[in-house]
Amino acid sequence: MSKILVTGGLGYIGSHSVVELQETGTEVVVVDNLVNTTASVAQRIEKITGKPVTVYNVDVCDTKALEEVFIKEDISDVIHFAAFKAVGESVDKPVEYYHNNVSGLISLLHCVKKFNVSSLVFSSSCTVYGDTKESPITEIHPIVEAISPYGTTKILGEEILTDFAKFCDTKIVCLRYFNPVGAHKSALIGELPLGVPSNLIPYVTQTAAGIREQLTIFGNDYNTPDGTNIRDFIHVVDLAKAHVKAIDYANANSISLDVFNLGTGIGQSVKEVVETFERVNDLTLNYTYGPRRQGDVEQIWADASKAKHVLGWETEITLDEMMRSAWAWQQTL
Ligand code: WQD
Repeated sequence: MSKILVTGGLGYIGSHSVVELQETGTEVVVVDNLVNTTASVAQRIEKITGKPVTVYNVDVCDTKALEEVFIKEDISDVIHFAAFKAVGESVDKPVEYYHNNVSGLISLLHCVKKFNVSSLVFSSSCTVYGDTKESPITEIHPIVEAISPYGTTKILGEEILTDFAKFCDTKIVCLRYFNPVGAHKSALIGELPLGVPSNLIPYVTQTAAGIREQLTIFGNDYNTPDGTNIRDFIHVVDLAKAHVKAIDYANANSISLDVFNLGTGIGQSVKEVVETFERVNDLTLNYTYGPRRQGDVEQIWADASKAKHVLGWETEITLDEMMRSAWAWQQTL
């Protein structure tokens, strides 16, 4: 039985996607170098689905080791998550991001071509839209310039794939994530930031847990209704389900490359999200306002209608549930 290879499959979005794939009966193989996760996530996935996960501790940049996996396993499709993803960190470590995210993709493409992979789903990002003033934003918005090395690696990734698609039969789908948050309802898997979180929600939950002293909201002087940034927060399980739809879509259609925004289509401010977290979890969060963070886009949220009409996918989980599940997960750590 042919299998789907999930690179970075023990990571935050990867692990939730492995659960959704297994629950549709798909055979999954994971490669993960464990740099941003722990091997125990595989057992937690198995606890949720009742199905074992085949995991290879492999760095996607190690082409020889990656080839070994393709030789051992009958891989039909690939979902490529394995990448560094912290916008702020990428500013401090641009070369590490270029190597891991771009060289890693190139290493994978060597195997995709050599082993005639049928479909490839690529984890892209709304950061490819750069410092846009246009929201809700559609997939045809021009890709000009990212405002972080992380975003640049996603633009480069999409450009390489657009070219690669012309010279191979692999069907390629790029998924542009907005802000993934929350955790599986079992609270067995969720976001596991190593060190001080750069993303908002892990910092919120760690503050609520007393791990962090106080949350600083970066800027309340933006040109938005309450002065704080606006984002499109999407539950990680809704995001994971979109990957199942993307693989099905690629295998059922004679496409070469296609791109989809994955968001709720609803813009919500940082302040609204913090207040929602307090309300649904019946707690008071210790937060203050500080200066703007370099590289932050003022406001961006998705026009997700293309994914709805073409993939037959739309988000179902509310912000309340996103905040409830994030707190439930944090309390297990
Ligand atoms: C969100 C908002 C901050 C921390 C993310 C992912 C990136 C990409 C796009 C997928 C901003 C504010 C944050 C804090 C704060 N997704 N904030 N205090 O920058 O939108 O990027 O979405 O590829 O991978 O990282 O997310 O969570 O860092 O910030 O006020 O302590 O929260 O200013 O307005 P961002 P984020």
